[in-house]
Amino acid sequence: MRVPAEIDARARDLRAEIEHHNYRYYVLDDPEVADAEYDRLLRELQVLEQQYPDLVTPDSPTQRVGAAPVAEFGEVRHDVPMLSLDNAFTVEDLTAFDARVRDRLESPADVEYYAEPKLDGLAINLRYVDGLLVQAATRGDGSTGEDVTHNVRTIHAIPLRLAAGAPPVLDVRGEVFMPSKGFKAMNARALERGEKVFANPRNAAAGSLRQLDPRITASRPLDMFCYGWGAIEGWTLPERHSDVIAQLREWGLKVSPEARVVSGVEGCFKYYTEIGARRAALPYEIDGVVYKVNPLRAQRELGFVSRAPRWAVAHKFPAHEETTIVRDVEFQVGRTGALTPVARLEPVVVSGVTVSNATLHNMDELERKDVRIGDRVIVRRAGDVIPEIVKVIVERRPDDAKVVRLPVHCPVCGSDVERVEGEAVARCTGGLVCAAQRKESLLHFASRRAMDIEGLGSKLVDQLVDQALVQSPADLYSLQLLQLAGLDRMAEKSAQNVIDALERSKSTTLARFLFALGIRDVGEATAAALALHFGSLERILAASPDEIQQVPDVGPVVAAHVHAFFSEPRNREVVSALLSRGVQWPEQAPKSAPTEGPLTGKTFVITGTLSAMSRDDARDRIVALGGKVAGSVSRKTSFVVVGADPGSKAQKAAELGVPVLDEDAFLGVLAAH
Ligand code: IVH
Repeated sequence: MRVPAEIDARARDLRAEIEHHNYRYYVLDDPEVADAEYDRLLRELQVLEQQYPDLVTPDSPTQRVGAAPVAEFGEVRHDVPMLSLDNAFTVEDLTAFDARVRDRLESPADVEYYAEPKLDGLAINLRYVDGLLVQAATRGDGSTGEDVTHNVRTIHAIPLRLAAGAPPVLDVRGEVFMPSKGFKAMNARALERGEKVFANPRNAAAGSLRQLDPRITASRPLDMFCYGWGAIEGWTLPERHSDVIAQLREWGLKVSPEARVVSGVEGCFKYYTEIGARRAALPYEIDGVVYKVNPLRAQRELGFVSRAPRWAVAHKFPAHEETTIVRDVEFQVGRTGALTPVARLEPVVVSGVTVSNATLHNMDELERKDVRIGDRVIVRRAGDVIPEIVKVIVERRPDDAKVVRLPVHCPVCGSDVERVEGEAVARCTGGLVCAAQRKESLLHFASRRAMDIEGLGSKLVDQLVDQALVQSPADLYSLQLLQLAGLDRMAEKSAQNVIDALERSKSTTLARFLFALGIRDVGEATAAALALHFGSLERILAASPDEIQQVPDVGPVVAAHVHAFFSEPRNREVVSALLSRGVQWPEQAPKSAPTEGPLTGKTFVITGTLSAMSRDDARDRIVALGGKVAGSVSRKTSFVVVGADPGSKAQKAAELGVPVLDEDAFLGVLAAH
């Protein structure tokens, strides 16, 4: 189909406008229009191209993900080899580099350097012919790389067409990388779906470019900074490296916003310190900074040795990753009794901090990573991230490496450890008998949003438990001034402050008290809902699991935990001891005290969607007539009310022969009373 001239012109305008917005957004990080406006333009172009397929050009912004998957990567020979960099790790290394440069240049004055971050990704060569991106290749061995054009085209920071004035042939070089935020989000998604997780952003970037199907690459958040060039035809290089980079930017390529021209080795050190201080805050990972002699004439004079230029050096930061040895794996016990495996490591400095422990979170993680005692492992600490074991170097596993087993008994109190089938977490069953759980539960009891006992921190709690002064939260209220004052780092004044804080905390609310008890799965919101619903502790103590389930947002699992907690004689003792020592709160009328009525003695279960009212309303109506509503069907259930799209409860009712009411019949029951 012939393309009408005005359509052709419109497509051209759209393409130019979209490219311009791409440049503002992806290269300059400074968009001029809202995303929705951009999407409209792209959509309009897509529609035109669908109507007139002849309109489609290879550089059209609609063609980024257009390529079909490839069977294998082709080889690309680089016209100008892609070199590597020498590294400088110490002050001496860098001073020696600068001395060599000045010596060769016979320059008594400070050398001008172009300084920029060294990104942790992979080097790519982009070939533009007459301004069009025609090929992208990896560095490979420096002379031959892999053709990754189909994948590189999906990276929005890379223009498919350069601005006017670009030379007929231009090889641009730079680093493709994955920004930290995108990396974390991608790994979180992979973890959710049970897919492979990448150890670091560099592996993630490399793995993403080594995909045969460009649609996969397109879904990965990749970016690119250009830092150099290879073959150029039809353009005379300017005088300085910084001039070339400025020109690349003008042509539409993305370059590092952190690059600076600095003077002499002093300027280099200053730049290194400044970037180092901001390293953790940068939106991508860097492993050092690169200095390049800025005047190109000087670069030519200096030339190369083997695979690296004499005019550039990478000044490395302390590594985010190190290898070390697992000396032991110990289990820590938390407030709810959860056992957390922690690897004790041969101390190693990782990005400037000594690391000697790394959490393994739970048994699943430990088993997945297959960490054994004696293993050589890679530990990693990036930015604000706590140290973690990335992986075991299996090839270097010693013959006597020991498999870690979940202990049968709690390492703190000796009680049995239980691991529910299908759950990652293993727990000590010792409850408050376990000193570790006791300490954590006391800290929780005293915390600001619970009983709010100021001054009762972990140092004090450790001493109170270790010296057997406190077994349960109730014992806190029997503490004497002299007992406290006798402890480490406790002057009489601070001891008195703790006594005063304890006294003040006795006047509380039922909601805070319930939260403070540390019942499994009872957070602040659930505690508040329980308090509001029942109004008094006595009524909660007397409630059945079904009655507890009447509380809004309380399901069968939480109801069972609450019921089990208060059924345990030791917990009841603690609660009554707390009350007898003066813990109190204002009484409230229950929001929904059981009413005597025509439905008294009848238990309903509601399943599916009702059209006339919400399930909450239905429950309120039943309760108002003296009935009960339960969450699950049993032989004791009087009626199952079945709305639209009922769950398995309707089936259960049929199995047990429990009478079923459809919505009309249910409304009839309500209306009859
Ligand atoms: S210049 C001839 N500049 O580091 C100069 N490289 O260790 C060659 N890299 O293969 C490279 N950021 O992948 C240069 N700002 C930067 C860089 C950088 C990262 C990588 C690049 C290179 C490797 C050498």
